[in-house]
Amino acid sequence: MIGIAMAAIMQPLAVGLSNYPNFTSKCLEFNPLNYVTNSAIITLEPVAKGSTIFYPNDDVTCNRPNQTVSVDICRIALNISTSSRSHVLAELWLPEAWDGRFLATGNGGLDGCTKYEDINYGAKYGFASIGSNNGHSGTSGVSFLHNNDVLEDYAYRSLHAITKMGKSLTSAFYSKTILKSYYLGCSGGGRQGLKAAEKYPRDFDGIVIGAPALNFNYLSSWRMSFLNKTGSIGSLDFIRPQVWKGLIHDEVLRQCDGIDGIEDGILEDPRKCHFDPEPLLCNGTGTNCLSPGQVQIVKSIFEPLIDMTGITVYQAMQPGSEILAADRLYAGLPFPYSLEWFRYVVHQDPAWDPQNFSDVDIILAQDLNPFNIMTYPRDLDSFRQKSGKMLIYHGLQDNQITSYTTDAFLRHLTTNAPISVLDNYIRYFRISGMAHCNSGPGAWMIGQSSLGDVGWGREENVLAAMVDWVERDEAPETIQGVKFIDDVKGNMVLRRRRHCRWPYENSYIGIEGGNGRSWDDWKCVLQSV
Ligand SMILES: *[C@@H]1O[C@H](CO)[C@@H](O)[C@H](O)[C@H]1NC(C)=O
Ligand SMILES: *[C@@H]1O[C@H](CO)[C@@H](O)[C@H](O)[C@H]1NC(C)=O
Ligand SMILES: *[C@@H]1O[C@H](CO)[C@@H](O)[C@H](O)[C@H]1NC(C)=O
Ligand SMILES: *[C@@H]1O[C@H](CO)[C@@H](O)[C@H](O)[C@H]1NC(C)=O
Ligand SMILES: *[C@@H]1O[C@H](CO)[C@@H](O)[C@H](O)[C@H]1NC(C)=O
Ligand SMILES: *[C@@H]1O[C@H](CO)[C@@H](O)[C@H](O)[C@H]1NC(C)=O
Repeated sequence: MIGIAMAAIMQPLAVGLSNYPNFTSKCLEFNPLNYVTNSAIITLEPVAKGSTIFYPNDDVTCNRPNQTVSVDICRIALNISTSSRSHVLAELWLPEAWDGRFLATGNGGLDGCTKYEDINYGAKYGFASIGSNNGHSGTSGVSFLHNNDVLEDYAYRSLHAITKMGKSLTSAFYSKTILKSYYLGCSGGGRQGLKAAEKYPRDFDGIVIGAPALNFNYLSSWRMSFLNKTGSIGSLDFIRPQVWKGLIHDEVLRQCDGIDGIEDGILEDPRKCHFDPEPLLCNGTGTNCLSPGQVQIVKSIFEPLIDMTGITVYQAMQPGSEILAADRLYAGLPFPYSLEWFRYVVHQDPAWDPQNFSDVDIILAQDLNPFNIMTYPRDLDSFRQKSGKMLIYHGLQDNQITSYTTDAFLRHLTTNAPISVLDNYIRYFRISGMAHCNSGPGAWMIGQSSLGDVGWGREENVLAAMVDWVERDEAPETIQGVKFIDDVKGNMVLRRRRHCRWPYENSYIGIEGGNGRSWDDWKCVLQSV
């Protein structure tokens, strides 16, 4: 792995570096192995702002061949041994302009992929930032087969290991104690952050997580259950993606888009949408319509997953997410992450046939629950007692993990603590019109990653909001999102919305016939949970 040499432009020395003539030599003379064990250095190099780091050895499925660096950093890539048969590849970026904070970043799906863009995002805003490959390389879970150590890294150990190591190296490098530590992740990365709060409540002062893959075993079953509902591609009554994206999505909007007072392709609260596909039933002659079997399929898609014992395994898919769900969950193929989870972990049989998936597998997976990967804590009291703060966001048009599951998790927490207590340390923002972690018709750019980065302000950036919450005790009331035309930053703004924290939700207060694009058109109103 080769970094481009540091350019000659040097910033004034940061505090604590005064023993060194400049940042380049400080970086080159730093020896991480004086401070950490069980590790080997892969790369140690100063990288100048604007340079590009290339990753030719990364697994191609990660689709991250390079990363351009936004600020001057000292880059340390380490190979951390977690057992005799597992190791984690970690990247720690130490910015020259350090503001005393540490940030760990997460992964996604079943991977295996270092999110360099998130590490860079943290470094850009002055955090010493770390990320890793989570114990295996690539998007596949095949390396879990017959290696529980790789699985253990994935479930919780990798993040804890890099956090411990990253913190030691950060304070050694700058010769200062770390002011505060943070975590940022979405989806699988959301689960990692929640697991950290559950298992290692001292690791982070502030945790920002999106669309968390919580209740992981049941999530795997829920995603697997769609194949049985849709049937395979080309089977009788299989609904083609174009039909989901056109006919069905349009009918969802026809029935539900106006409920919030504004027809803009956004369901401000999909729970108020009780979508009925019956009006799409063919009347004999038409072609742009659904057969009786297809109507039943659509109905089943919007029902929760209930197992044979009557337990609600997973919440229903929320309506409005059809356009993107059509190509994944409803595609007539086994959902890849679930397929691999059942093959390589639950059954330990690469030939296991997804057509065989049944209630027995749901129970099997939940009972197996390796390394308590479930991630569905009853409470986060230890985290609260350490003054930890957690900010959760979930897109209300999420096409991969229904937002209703995060609603259910918050209700689950309220069985042990009233909302007034939770509100002191966990705040959940439902982001209308956001798909999975990013994109969608809504005002989805909220600083959740480099994609959603529109500046460093506590109003408009979830990470900045978290910093103010932790360091100044100013808890976020709303999060301002923005949507640009074609999602290109710098284009005209299509809409802005102040997303409310659960259990508040936006209610339209603008003029009748208005377009609802300004945040002044909406007001947060308390809802029952
Ligand atoms: C920084 O230090 C390195 C190594 O000590 C040296 O080669 C380089 O010229 C210095 N750069 C500046 C801008 O002082
Ligand atoms: C980085 O990789 C992307 C492909 O993901 C490519 O389009 C881009 O040109 C690469 N950048 C450089 C500087 O090579
Ligand atoms: C990391 O270390 C392990 C042994 O612990 C080794 O098998 C592996 O090849 C190393 N990987 C890299 C990228 O250095
Ligand atoms: C779904 O599973 C049920 C029960 O195992 C089975 O009878 C049915 O044929 C399956 N449907 C499809 C489309 O695979
Ligand atoms: C079928 O007829 C009913 C009653 O006239 C109507 O409400 C429905 O929209 C029609 N369905 C289609 C697909 O045209
Ligand atoms: C699928 O289920 C059938 C019937 O229970 C069983 O005979 C078959 O071995 C299973 N196939 C696989 C690949 O698990």
